Amino acid sequence: MNENRPNTDEVYYPSQEVIAQARVKDWDALAKKAHADLQGFWAAEAEELEWYRKWNKVLDDSQKPFYKWFAGAQCNIIHNALDRHQKTWRRNKLSLVWVGEKGDVRTYSYYALNRDVCKFANVLKAMGVRKGDRVTIYMPRVPEIVIAMLAAAKIGAIHNVVYGGFSVEALQQRIEDSESKVVVTADGGFMNGKIVELKKTVDDAVKRSPSVETVIVVQRTAHEVRMEPGRDYWYHDLMKLPLAQATCATEVMDSHEPLFVLYTSGTTGKPKGLIHGHGGYMTGVYSTLKYVFDIKDEDRYWCAADPGWITGHSYIVYGPLLLGATTFMYEGSPTYPYPNRWWNLVEKYGISILYTAPTAIRGLMRFGESWPNRHDLSTLRLLGSVGEPINPEAWKWYYRVIGKGRCPIMDTWWQTETGMFMITPTPVVPLKPGSGTRPFFGQQAEILDEQGKPVADGEEGFLVLTRPWPAMAMTIYRDPERYVKQYWSQYPGKYMAGDSAKRDKDGYFWVIGRTDDVIKVSGYRLGTAEIESVLVAHPAVAEAAVIGLPHEVKGNAIHCYCLLRGGHKPSPELEQELKDHVAKQLGPIVRPEKVTIVDSLPKTRSGKIMRRVLKARAQGLPEGDVSTLEE
Ligand code: WTA
Repeated sequence: MNENRPNTDEVYYPSQEVIAQARVKDWDALAKKAHADLQGFWAAEAEELEWYRKWNKVLDDSQKPFYKWFAGAQCNIIHNALDRHQKTWRRNKLSLVWVGEKGDVRTYSYYALNRDVCKFANVLKAMGVRKGDRVTIYMPRVPEIVIAMLAAAKIGAIHNVVYGGFSVEALQQRIEDSESKVVVTADGGFMNGKIVELKKTVDDAVKRSPSVETVIVVQRTAHEVRMEPGRDYWYHDLMKLPLAQATCATEVMDSHEPLFVLYTSGTTGKPKGLIHGHGGYMTGVYSTLKYVFDIKDEDRYWCAADPGWITGHSYIVYGPLLLGATTFMYEGSPTYPYPNRWWNLVEKYGISILYTAPTAIRGLMRFGESWPNRHDLSTLRLLGSVGEPINPEAWKWYYRVIGKGRCPIMDTWWQTETGMFMITPTPVVPLKPGSGTRPFFGQQAEILDEQGKPVADGEEGFLVLTRPWPAMAMTIYRDPERYVKQYWSQYPGKYMAGDSAKRDKDGYFWVIGRTDDVIKVSGYRLGTAEIESVLVAHPAVAEAAVIGLPHEVKGNAIHCYCLLRGGHKPSPELEQELKDHVAKQLGPIVRPEKVTIVDSLPKTRSGKIMRRVLKARAQGLPEGDVSTLEE
């Protein structure tokens, strides 16, 4: 997207109407206050939630970087997401409005959602799940994924959601590393009019996972699936049993006890399980969603991500429920059966806040304005973007065609690790297309060079965060050393995000992209190491290197370079087979754009593949410093 370089001087100011509606009208004043008293700011936010026992200390930093927020406090995120609403008028407010790809609709009041969560929590208990046990959830985008997550959290179990677009290898690794006792899945899901065979994938993955005792299967597609006696149970059968009582006590948790593990791709090796806890995560997510999307009781909020990613955890499931909001969820693809599907949903359900990824915008933009223009989108008041840098062209289309120039775009920069928005505007902040503007209240970011020196404004460098925040991941599951090494060692005391970025003269941040071997494909976070190890597991492949190259809609696409084993000949058929192999093992979202068979790979003298060189060659760019290159 080089032809479309952002102009750092182009500014969009909020209208009087937007300012009049906004919860915080004076951004600078609150930012100043939070900056001067970080702990005071977060304590005040936490006071808006209910705790079983208050904290002794807002922030215990005696074991940095293992920060403990709200030390000594007791709580449970479910108490704030569900229990406390039962005592107010929100009991009868809609918590979730769900639409299936086929057009089927289900709605849950806060009362009804709580009832199903209690019932399923009792089912999990009956299956032997106790506080601290891990439950893997591998589901399509249906209400039961939310119910399963909340039920696990309610009883103090740790949920491990694996995105339904992943396949056997990815699922198996995540079940195994987390040592899950129970897997919750579905017979399948609908996507683009087809059935996604989730249960088959679970069967294959569980074969190699001895920790799994029970598989609970939600019936979504009602096509024939194999059920293993003594291991597999239908969700609807279990929910009918007397043991599935409609009341269940919420487990009392220490503030920093784990709520979930979420695996994400890192620089090398296997994916890492990031751990988020109850108290800090709850406070951070609640506060950021409140200020940034400025949610009010009359809003219909739609975060069009999948619950299987951090965006879904924080801002489909937990954030909206903590705020007592009505959240909207849609099962299927934005373009099925026609490219107006989303706009039709916005109109029909009166969506007021829409939060999605640049890739979706670019994908929909391709079909032209006539599709959204057929619909009344006047209920929208705020838009959002996440997952990758948004190119100014897509930003402007979103602003003009979808928001009709009335709706500010909240471009939120954050990560699985941060748990909550870190660099983000609020509705009153003047916007620049392509910039997430400035750090959230109380936060601070810097752009550093390799040696840790701040670079000049306008120069590219490494993005770091310099102050702790409550929703920060607490550790990497069973690998605290890796947590320290990965994030806190490059610049001691500072959190290294893994992104390159610039800051402009107005203090606005412009994220450019990842600096490690993570590729953002359609906003999905994928690791080159995982893809390479699947490629070399194929009998024809001796060595593989994977890089991301720019793609018009997906942002980046996966390009694989493979060196064959003796006896195998390059052919278009083999290239196709390798693509299929990756998609089958890791999932359809990981399907390579291109596989190229090569007779050598650029390596350093110590034998490390130089992906940087491959990338430069593929784009016809200068190869940079190649003094260590040995082909
Ligand atoms: C990228 C997703 C630019 C970034 C919430 C980050 C973004 C990675 C933005 C984390 C944004 C996310 N602008 N880049 N608004 N939001 N990113 O863990 O590279 O799936 O490091 O979390 O996505 O991806 P993750």
